[in-house]
Order: sequence, then C-alpha cells, then structure tokens
Amino acid sequence: MKLDTLILGAGAAGLMCAAHAGGRCLVVDHARAAGEKIRISGGGRCNFTNLHAGPENYLSANPHFCKSALSRYTQWDFLDLVGRHKIAWHEKTLGQLFCDGSAKEIIAMLLSEAAKAGAEIWLETQIGEITHSDGRFRVQLTRAGRVTTVEARALVVATGGKSIPKMGATGLAYRIAERFGLPVTETRPALVPLTFGGSTLEGLTPLAGLSVEAEIICNGTRFREGLLFTHRGLSGPSILQISSFWREGDALSVHLLPDQDFLALLQSHRQTEGRKALQTVLGEYLPTRLARKMVEESGLVGNLADQSDRSLQILVSQLTDWRLTPTGSEGYRTAEVTLGGIDTAALSSRTMEANALPGLYFIGEAVDVTGWLGGYNFQWAWSSGWAAGQAI
Ligand code: FDA
Repeated sequence: MKLDTLILGAGAAGLMCAAHAGGRCLVVDHARAAGEKIRISGGGRCNFTNLHAGPENYLSANPHFCKSALSRYTQWDFLDLVGRHKIAWHEKTLGQLFCDGSAKEIIAMLLSEAAKAGAEIWLETQIGEITHSDGRFRVQLTRAGRVTTVEARALVVATGGKSIPKMGATGLAYRIAERFGLPVTETRPALVPLTFGGSTLEGLTPLAGLSVEAEIICNGTRFREGLLFTHRGLSGPSILQISSFWREGDALSVHLLPDQDFLALLQSHRQTEGRKALQTVLGEYLPTRLARKMVEESGLVGNLADQSDRSLQILVSQLTDWRLTPTGSEGYRTAEVTLGGIDTAALSSRTMEANALPGLYFIGEAVDVTGWLGGYNFQWAWSSGWAAGQAI
C-alpha cells in the first residue's frame, strides 16, 4: 500500500496533522477509539486551549523551539475552528477554555476535519517494524490479524508520551527516535500529584480531603491555585503545576491563603478576643483540621493573649512558608503529561521534521515541549500537528 503520509497515533496531534496533511494519508492507532485522552480530559469537557497560551507556558531544553508553531497556529486559530463547528465553550478560570457540552465534540470535530482532508483512520492496528530506504518509510501494520506493509514518503510520529499506560501510552515515539539516531532528553512524569513518606506523611494524612487556596514555590517558580491534601501527599492544580519543576530532594514552600495578612489578623483578634485558642481563631480562615495542624507545627501553646508579636510571627512563618519535602510522585500511572522527549535540537521548529532524516516528523507530547496545566498541552498538540501537516 503506497501513501504520501503515514501518521502514527490518532490522538490530539495526529488528528490535527491529518486534517492538514492532504494527499494520500493514513492514521493508525492501536486503541479502539481515536482521541481517548481528549475524551477524558478536563473532567470530560476538555480544556482545549488557553487564552493566554504563549511560549512562557512551556518547559523545554530549548525554550525558543515552541515559538514558531505556537505563533503560526494560535489559540485563536483553534477557537475559530471550534466556532466553525458550533461547539459551545466557556472560560473556567485563568484563561482555560472548556466545552460547555462534552469533550467528544472536539473529537468529532477533528475526525470530521481529517475526513474532509481525505485521511483514512485505522484503529486497533499494531505497529511493527519501521525501515527507511530510497526516500520512503516502510511500516509493518497488523490489523484484524492481517499484516500489511505500508510505504510512505512522510512518517509522522504522534504517539504521545508515557503518561497513563492504561490509556494506551507506550513510549513508542522514543524508540522510533532512537532507531533513527535522534536524541531523546530525560523523561519524567509531570502534572502529577506528589507523595510523602515517614513522619511528614503521618502528619499530612489526617488532612486528607481538605482543599485550600495556596501558593507553592519550588526552585524559583511559583503557582497560586488550589491545594488538595490526599492520603499519599499533595495534589490539586498548584501541586500538579509545581511537579514539573520539582526534583527529588527539593523542598516545597507552601503559602496558605496568600491574600491574608496573617500577622495583622492575629494581632487584631488578640486585642478583641485574646482568650480564644490560637486554632479557634485560625479556624475562622482555614479548615479546622489544618488550623490545628499549623498551630501544632508552630510549637506555640496557650491562647491568643499569651502570644507576643514574636510568637505570632513564628506562626505566620508556618502559614506562609510551610516547608515540605516530597519523596516522589504518583508517577506515569496518573501523570497528565510526560516532561522531556524527542530532543528539539534534532527537529526543525518550523515543520517538526527531523533535521537528519527528511520525511520523518515528531509532534505533540512526544517532543520535549511540555505545557503547564490549563489547556496548554492541547494547544501544543494543535500547533505542532498543524505545523507538520502544513509542511508535508
Ligand atoms: P495522545 O496521547 O493524545 O495520542 C497518542 C496516540 O497514540 C493515542 O491515541 C495512543 O493510543 C496512540 N499510541 C501510543 N502508542 C502506540 C503504539 N505503540 N501503537 C499504536 N498507537 C499508539 N491537556 C490539556 O491541554 N487540557 C486538558 O484538559 C488535559 N487533560 C488531561 C487529562 C488527563 C487525565 C490526561 C492523561 C492528560 C490531559 N491533558 C490535557 C494532556 C493531553 O491529553 C496531552 O498533552 C495530549 O493528549 C497529547 O497529545 P498527543 O497527540 O501528543 O498524544
């Protein structure tokens, strides 16, 4: 079977690329349905882009690499497409755009665009040996027990990263890169809950289920969003965000309720209700269990009137710079994305084509470009898929 383009992976990036590649194009995937991660994303409503998406929202060994694709296919281009398909959407918070209805509408839109461009899709297809000679790629595919060798001028690798193996992630893109001599940067789970051990975990476990607004700081980066206490450690948007910047051994600095001036607050309560216990007063601002924990951690005893300004300052430091050192993360089992991937030094930032092997393209999560939480990763899938599709 002879093709112009073979796309491996019918996820976000692969389908976007198929919608723009033109010519004789086949998309293959081992899953039963296309776009499975789109389907479950954003709690079933798909946070499909972010109004503020820009290069500063991405991590990569080369922070400039993503600029070209992001500026040529922007969030406004994707919104325009969504509008043309009459998909209703809303901004939830921080520029994050979600479908009003269902993420399935985004999948249907991409499938219809890919079909309009003439692309064919084979699901439940296993990808076998991949070779390259005479300017063409030959890929062995097995579908319903039948083996077919497909020949294509362009091979686009859009098989994503390693996150959530249960949903079909296999890390195939990295093996293909290695097979053709392209470097791959270190990969690790990102946008993932962080776990704790020993006495720190013992101290956190009673807080499981509580959530509070917080700013989390690690390695000079800060995120201010929700913080959730779990049975194994910490989660919530602020932790998922910071997990991309955290490395083993690093401590997090947690600033609870960053809008509150705790010192002024405690001083004022001391004047009017000095007989109250510290945790009772704090409990007016924080969940009771967390208020109790903070007072315990500060080591202060007695009621509010017993505390000097210096003692109150100790409690304030506890509330604004609570140091916690995770022991690890929940790993690829729950990570939303994979940090790292195909080294961008080996790819053209304009087309996503391998510099050393014309016709070979890598797009989406497989590439060492990782977005923050909030629709940025889909925007990269759309922009990089579009860039490759245009170039083919
Ligand atoms: P993607 O993973 O989408 O597609 C890869 C495809 O390749 C899959 O269809 C897979 O089956 C196939 N494949 C893999 N290995 C194969 C093999 N060996 N043989 C054949 N096929 C193979 N992002 C965001 O911006 N907003 C959001 O709301 C969310 N929400 C979210 C929730 C959850 C639970 C997760 C896990 C992730 C998110 N994300 C997200 C991240 C987002 O889903 C992710 O960045 C994109 O799906 C990446 O698109 P790709 O097309 O690169 O990979």
